[in-house]
Amino acid sequence: MKIMSGNSNLPLARAVAAYLELPLTDASVRRFADEEVFVEIHENVRGEDVFVVQPTSFPCNDNLMELLICIDALRRASAKRITAVVPYFGYARQDRKPGPRTPISAKLVANLITQAGADRVLSVDLHAGQIQGFFDIPTDNLFAAPVMSADIQARYGEQELMVVSPDVGGVVRARALAKRLDNAPLAIVDKRRDKPGQSEVMNIIGDVKGRCCILIDDIIDSGGTLCNAAQALLDAGAKSVTAYITHGVLSGGAVARVNNSALTELVITDSILATDATKDSTRIRTLTIAPLLGEAIRRIADESSVSSLFD
Ligand code: R5P
Repeated sequence: MKIMSGNSNLPLARAVAAYLELPLTDASVRRFADEEVFVEIHENVRGEDVFVVQPTSFPCNDNLMELLICIDALRRASAKRITAVVPYFGYARQDRKPGPRTPISAKLVANLITQAGADRVLSVDLHAGQIQGFFDIPTDNLFAAPVMSADIQARYGEQELMVVSPDVGGVVRARALAKRLDNAPLAIVDKRRDKPGQSEVMNIIGDVKGRCCILIDDIIDSGGTLCNAAQALLDAGAKSVTAYITHGVLSGGAVARVNNSALTELVITDSILATDATKDSTRIRTLTIAPLLGEAIRRIADESSVSSLFD
């Protein structure tokens, strides 16, 4: 087995390799003067089971191109099996046509990864489970919930918890987390979004008075959804609001928005490389998913059960 990395999240790839007690595959993933991506693998990978760790986060298109070219290089170097390990799958939110004459870009990206030569895909908290079906190759979708629930129990386990989904679409994810937290009660924020990038809280379904609310979502991007939901929960009588979000996209002024929000803290994972602003924020804490990914990779290589990781 070999672990190779592009440039999008080297610390995570190194941590995964360390979990597996393997060195990272010796390769250069660099740019020509005109920004073309060039990949060169400096060791033999013929007949190897290779896992390429490359979340397609900002800059999304560059990181996607690196992933595709790494896969192409491995295929031409006769790797036996190539797994695209894409902890954060960019374009996932474009998983359906929101209107006439619009693309389904998540499907296009799935086609590109498959056509490049990937044999399998490994991702974490895909925006929608059905994106697995966009790939005609085996695709494992891991959940960060066990990592989050362990942290919630340790930090907030003594309090009267309430798990909250920030929108109707996230209820299944929130219910799964609530189940892990001794069947904590569930509330839902009924959010209406008029324009992309803007969010408006309309209503809270459930009684959150006096509760320590745990907001759960897959992505924080502009932070609008989360910060508005936190304020609405406090206005409805919640004692405190903490957010657990798998993918800290945190674009534009999101970190400042979180720093100035009503949230006690925002907890994200290291699926996406943290910016300096994120690292400097005293309101944002990061949990690592390296052991989760490492264990899933070990099980894929051994051909043992991945789903039993979540029993
Ligand atoms: C939407 O369906 C996602 O689950 C997130 O709620 C959304 O992407 C968050 O975006 P933002 O932080 O920009 O409000």
